[in-house]
Amino acid sequence: MNEYALRASDLFKTCFRKSPETVLFAPGRVNLIGEHVDYNGGRVMPCSLSLGTYAAAARRNDGVIRLVSVDMGGAAVETTSEELASLPCVPLSFARFGWAEYPLGVAAKLIENGFCIGGFEMAVCGSLPRGSGLSSSASLEVLTCAVLKELFFIRLTGEQAALISLAAERDCAGVNCGVMDQFICAKGRKDHAMLLDTHTLSNEYLPFDLKDAELLIMNTNKPRRLAGSKYNERRAECEEALRLINAAGLDKKHLCDITEEGLAFIEGALPETLRRRARHAVTENIRTLKAAEALKTGDIVTLGKLMNASHDSLKNDYEVTGKELDSIVYAARDQEGVLGARMTGAGFGGCAIAIVKKDAARSVIESVTARYKAETGLTCSIYTAKTGEAPFGKE
Ligand code: GLA
Repeated sequence: MNEYALRASDLFKTCFRKSPETVLFAPGRVNLIGEHVDYNGGRVMPCSLSLGTYAAAARRNDGVIRLVSVDMGGAAVETTSEELASLPCVPLSFARFGWAEYPLGVAAKLIENGFCIGGFEMAVCGSLPRGSGLSSSASLEVLTCAVLKELFFIRLTGEQAALISLAAERDCAGVNCGVMDQFICAKGRKDHAMLLDTHTLSNEYLPFDLKDAELLIMNTNKPRRLAGSKYNERRAECEEALRLINAAGLDKKHLCDITEEGLAFIEGALPETLRRRARHAVTENIRTLKAAEALKTGDIVTLGKLMNASHDSLKNDYEVTGKELDSIVYAARDQEGVLGARMTGAGFGGCAIAIVKKDAARSVIESVTARYKAETGLTCSIYTAKTGEAPFGKE
């Protein structure tokens, strides 16, 4: 057992005065490319990480549910399966559970979908830096699915676990996100990236082999303060752009159904801001397909260039980067041995990623850290990304 699994297990024993029946893990994620397209029916290419969330858990026979978290202090959040079954799945009913709105939202959604969930106790411990945009909430949601599947012998596929987790995030926690994070946290595989079509959910595992390079995670350590409100604003802008495009004569279900040839049509049909938002969605989807091809053929130079173009589009057309992400990304790009760098996740802070030649990694980390500090006054954390196995990755 690693350090975090042990801490979850120890907390379980201290709080619940018995041993857990099971200790499970679900990963966080980075998205290599395909940003802000998962709610536009586009393709994304994330990787599951070795960093994530651990849970120690056991069943109870009296319907009582008790949850504790190493990261959120020792106090247990308590409810019952009966109460969860009667709660409407809306943020108002779940807000009082604090951090536990995610696991309890998942339990409630499972119950709502006809799964038989009784009482249980669970202690969790995360190895993901909090608020860094590496999907700690999706990791916790999917982990809860995996735990409840095991404790209550329910038949649940990875895809169902992802969709239940997404429903919990949207309805109970009130975050109107796309399906990418929950899907990769449920079904990612070690040493692989996944090319996921967020419209059909068809997906392909791609060996994650960067040859003589490696992937760095560069945490700006800037909290993603605007992420929630601006995220919803961007979603609304995309919906409005789609409405106008269809009103002007196209018949598309999603923005990402528009091809390269359709870009000229967008230019004519939309006002300035919406034109840029739609252009990002369409071009990012196309870049993701090209990036998947580059990864498959081992063309890491092209993959890096596509990552650069992705960041520039997120900065100029989609406007979700901000001073800190731009500073760290451009500092990285200026270093010898860096093949590409971009923000990852929702934006407005959080993490960026860079593909870096292995023999240059150390000096890149030093130079980027110094320049980022000089430009922003903040201290970043940079480390090598390691992929990890998701609980439904091998089904
Ligand atoms: C957040 C959301 C995802 C996705 C990304 C942006 O991580 O949870 O669904 O939209 O932002 O690509």
